[in-house]
Amino acid sequence: MKRLLNSRGGARLLMVLLLHLRGAFGTCPCQDPSLCNPISGTRDFEVFVFQVGGKAWKFYDWSQITTVATFGKYDPELMCYAHLRGSRVVLKGDVSVKEIVDPAFRAAWIDQKVELAKKQYMDGINIDIEQMVNKSSVEYYALTALVKETTEAFHKEIPGSQVTFDVAWSPKCIDRRCYNYTGIANSCDFLFVMSYDEQSQVWTDCIARANAPYNQTLTGYDDYIQMGINPKKLVMGVPWYGYDYPCLSLSKAHVCSIKEVSFRGAPCSDAAGSQLPYRIVMDRANSSMSGILWDEEQKAPYFEYQDSHGTIHQVWYDDPRSISLKAAYVKERGLRGIGMWNGDCLDYSRGPVAQRQTEAMWEALKPK
Ligand SMILES: *[C@@H]1O[C@H](CO)[C@@H](O)[C@H](O)[C@H]1NC(C)=O
Ligand SMILES: *[C@@H]1O[C@H](CO)[C@@H](O)[C@H](O)[C@H]1NC(C)=O
Ligand SMILES: *[C@@H]1O[C@H](CO)[C@@H](O)[C@H](O)[C@H]1NC(C)=O
Ligand SMILES: *[C@@H]1O[C@H](CO)[C@@H](O)[C@H](O)[C@H]1NC(C)=O
Repeated sequence: MKRLLNSRGGARLLMVLLLHLRGAFGTCPCQDPSLCNPISGTRDFEVFVFQVGGKAWKFYDWSQITTVATFGKYDPELMCYAHLRGSRVVLKGDVSVKEIVDPAFRAAWIDQKVELAKKQYMDGINIDIEQMVNKSSVEYYALTALVKETTEAFHKEIPGSQVTFDVAWSPKCIDRRCYNYTGIANSCDFLFVMSYDEQSQVWTDCIARANAPYNQTLTGYDDYIQMGINPKKLVMGVPWYGYDYPCLSLSKAHVCSIKEVSFRGAPCSDAAGSQLPYRIVMDRANSSMSGILWDEEQKAPYFEYQDSHGTIHQVWYDDPRSISLKAAYVKERGLRGIGMWNGDCLDYSRGPVAQRQTEAMWEALKPK
């Protein structure tokens, strides 16, 4: 300590202090420091993209994107680029519903998220809690309080920031998630409706079905709106992935019966299949024995193929045709916008076939 009091030591101490101060406030990683300012203002139509990692974001259609929710590792280059294009970048928020029952725990969690967002020059948070909650339980009330308090803290601490919450395709206690949907919608900027995994709980025949059938998807929105939620508080989430089901048997009418795998009380579930990103689906479609088929009832494409062990699989997914139909509803019903899980499912390799395929998926989001 004494040695530092001489003049050289004093200068060094000052340097160390300054470095610490810079660290505390963060150093803007962008070439243009103004890109570290949060995005303010809203655009009429929201295009909400989940990013899960890697550098594929460089090939996203940024002319459409309003928000990127980064669920992978923080990437300062992505933050700078998003801000350059006027798009928000938001954190992922997930926390145990058992823990948030304690108001002090909630406050500490929110504080930590706000600080993290500030340090990384981000524009809000997407709360993705897909845990089971019983109606009118302590967790039920705590969850609504969490969303309300998070929104208040972010709006106050980061002007123009956005707080959103992910909900299932329908408000009817899907996957035993009985939340106060109207309360949560009123307490945040908007809900991202995950209109996919719609076969997570199947109570009827145990057969392969579309990930996001047209009618079932629209019924979910009608139910949210019927509860009193403003359509402008709803962003439609579409899947950029599909399900590959091994068939126990396949009928001539393309009915693929699947293994009974129960999920949250339902005897049968899409858990019998495996999720495939669109680029892999398209690859597999090429070696299908059925060719690409279209189900008029569910308004979704599917195909069948045989694996190297001789097992027949049926693959259900969404393509530009099925997504366009849903995007038309977004416009017609006046929803806030559209988005997808997730932006990294496409083939961004830039070959002519891949490029056409990928462009068509982005294009399908646009309200016609
Ligand atoms: C919900 O309630 C049921 C029946 O009372 C109970 O068995 C279950 O543990 C509860 N679930 C949660 C997540 O609290
Ligand atoms: C939902 O939350 C809102 C806001 O906290 C509250 O006013 C309302 O009573 C709650 N509704 C139900 C059904 O619990
Ligand atoms: C889909 O919904 C429309 C309108 O609600 C209804 O008329 C039609 O029968 C439904 N189709 C199926 C296959 O459920
Ligand atoms: C799939 O088939 C299409 C049409 O025949 C062809 O253009 C494309 O190159 C094929 N893709 C792959 C990955 O084999």
